[in-house]
Amino acid sequence: QAPQPCAIVLFGATGDLAHRKLVPALYHLYHRGNLPTECAVVCFGRRDWTDEDLRREYEKSVTEEEKGGDFKQVWPQFASRLIFAPGTFDEPEAFQNLKAKLDELDRTHGTRGNRVFYLAVAPEFFRPIVDQLGKAGLVYPWQQDEPWSRVVIEKPFGHDLESARALSRDASRVLDESQIYRIDHYLGKETVQNILAFRFGNSIFEPIWDRRHVASVQITVAEEVGMPGNRGSYYDSAGAIRDMVQNHMLQLLCLVAMEPPVDLSADAVRNEKVKVLQALPRWNPADVYENVVRARYAAGSIEGEDVPGYLQEKGVAPDSTTAPYVAIRLTLNTWRWAGVPFFLRTGKRLPKRATEIAIQFHRPPTRLFDVEHDGQSVGNQLVLRIQPNEGASLTFEAKIPGSRRRLQEVRMDFRYGTAFAAPPPEAYERLLLDVMLGDPTLFTRTDEVENAWRFITSILDAWDKPDAPPPVEYPAGTWGPADADALVGRDGARWRRL
Ligand code: BG6
Repeated sequence: QAPQPCAIVLFGATGDLAHRKLVPALYHLYHRGNLPTECAVVCFGRRDWTDEDLRREYEKSVTEEEKGGDFKQVWPQFASRLIFAPGTFDEPEAFQNLKAKLDELDRTHGTRGNRVFYLAVAPEFFRPIVDQLGKAGLVYPWQQDEPWSRVVIEKPFGHDLESARALSRDASRVLDESQIYRIDHYLGKETVQNILAFRFGNSIFEPIWDRRHVASVQITVAEEVGMPGNRGSYYDSAGAIRDMVQNHMLQLLCLVAMEPPVDLSADAVRNEKVKVLQALPRWNPADVYENVVRARYAAGSIEGEDVPGYLQEKGVAPDSTTAPYVAIRLTLNTWRWAGVPFFLRTGKRLPKRATEIAIQFHRPPTRLFDVEHDGQSVGNQLVLRIQPNEGASLTFEAKIPGSRRRLQEVRMDFRYGTAFAAPPPEAYERLLLDVMLGDPTLFTRTDEVENAWRFITSILDAWDKPDAPPPVEYPAGTWGPADADALVGRDGARWRRL
């Protein structure tokens, strides 16, 4: 299905996200023939740029590797669709000029009045931009099928439950829910979409996907990076809990734990995800101290290179209590999952970058065989590798040939790279395409965001109490603090070695 002609307006066009992700994604979409021929990308920004300046700047976003091949033919065609629109977010006149420009593009580029407004800006600008879009008549009443207007909002959507609600309320004065596309780029990842395919496109996994067969579930999002560039000041106001858990990790949890949807329509899928978020525990501070470990990295080394501790990073307050590492043990209050611990961990400056979901099955009820495992046996474990080495593996016991009754753990492995020839599209390509197609399945709905914030806010509130235990430390380049091992140890579990 090809998207209809449209103009894509980028706010934050000169920022990091536009350079690193959005412009390459738009170029790839164009290259694959997935951008409509009648389209324009309008970049709204404060600079004093001409269209030519913008095109020169954006050319730098394409990697050297990609500049081989047919880049010389394709780039000029793509670049002719890049248009600069000067202005600041609080300037009504700039939005009037933007409107005039978009009307003109309808005539010159055939964009037919269809608009995507992409807000790749700091959260404090969401409200002013949406207001100005409304006042300038740039967004249409939602009932219209065509022309249509849609607004894409980057994370973070709010910093707690109350602010997320206020943002949704303000946005609803100008926009209908169906026009709002809240991005969580994890949902655009091919391996994340594959979770539902894996569970509901096969018949062999679902019958054992519950408390009777599953002993625990581990979700890990590990990163090697610390605070590159100027990231420290944003990050210090967020921490891992807002930056990773509220959105990406809870979304992974939803996809693993949800019931089968009646079909794959956006609302059917999102209805099931909301139910998981509603089943998250209602914690008081004592529960939080018992079930959540927060930590920050001290100086250490990663791949032989010395790196500073979190408190020494640029932009981080010297007395900060923000935690770039969190481990959580929770249970879901549902029929399927009652009593099954879900362990979530995420952190910066861990030994490597790896995101995966591990489903740990119960041990066999009786022990007939001698198991050879030097204390490291994991038993039956299904691992979905989200990134890197995308794929899945299942560990099980096999008889050691020649032995009478000794078993050893072996692994069945599926790898995307081997099974499928073409590399999957980048998350942002898929998400941009879905916005143009008007498919909100991979975007988060208001009630999802609010239920996720309800849970996260209970943790934040507990950490704000004067008697809250402060973050513990782990040396950069290690797998987090001993407290996190103790957290899973209570259920007789161990974090997976990655
Ligand atoms: C972003 C976070 O949403 O996701 C970053 O703000 C994090 O802190 C990034 O590094 C991780 O994304 P990915 O796609 O590299 O796993």
